[in-house]
Amino acid sequence: MNPAILHISAEPIGAGQERVCYQHPDDESKVVKIQKGDNDTQTRRELALYASLARRGMNDFEHIPRYHGKVQTNIGNGFVVDRIADHDGAVSRSLWWHFERGYPVTEFLPYLEELRRYLLDKRIVFSVDMGRYNILLQKLSPSRARLVVIDGLGNHTAINWLDNIGFFARRKIRRRWQRFIGRLHNYSAETMRRHEGSPRKLEAAYRRQQPGP
Ligand SMILES: Nc1ncnc2c1ncn2[C@@H]1O[C@H](COP(=O)(O)OP(=O)(O)O)[C@@H](O)[C@H]1O
Ligand SMILES: [Mg+2]
Repeated sequence: MNPAILHISAEPIGAGQERVCYQHPDDESKVVKIQKGDNDTQTRRELALYASLARRGMNDFEHIPRYHGKVQTNIGNGFVVDRIADHDGAVSRSLWWHFERGYPVTEFLPYLEELRRYLLDKRIVFSVDMGRYNILLQKLSPSRARLVVIDGLGNHTAINWLDNIGFFARRKIRRRWQRFIGRLHNYSAETMRRHEGSPRKLEAAYRRQQPGP
């Protein structure tokens, strides 16, 4: 066996349209993402974003997984990022998972506001693919949680060079955030109509005050 090639034999921990995600065989804290078919669009966007963050010396990975480079595996080429898991070791649950179980979007507004500020501050552009399936609520301890974006990072439009200028990047992030948060509210309202009874609340320790203006 070639030692440079990672050997993956476990079942995937998740799959989307484009990539399948596996536990890293040698490192519990990481995952390997491998392309499923010919489409490498999201991977290209994501790697371009991580390259631009590295060029800028951006080293704050509170709300996106850290990138650990490309790898070759027995099932194809991939890349390694942090595994987003709760303090009990289980992979963190998405916003979608919570909506489906009757938690309304209002439970997450303080966390969403923190995420919005981070993306703006660090100039992290995202695409329409950043949505309820691709944002995880990571429970870091019995009293601390945060939202982490695992997919949809990077830009989906053809002309991106303006993203290198802070003003234009932030304008784009603000506009896309408006659309994203609108979709989230609509979806939450829809799931709440399906759910009879009272909306569920996060455990007390994870409930946060609404941020100020
Ligand atoms: N960093 C991560 N930590 C834990 N699970 C992840 C991570 N990245 C992806 N996953 C899981 O793998 C799935 C597919 O990965 P994703 O990047 O969303 O692929 P796609 O671009 O095809 O949608 C996700 O929905 C999630 O379940
Ligand atoms: Mg996805």
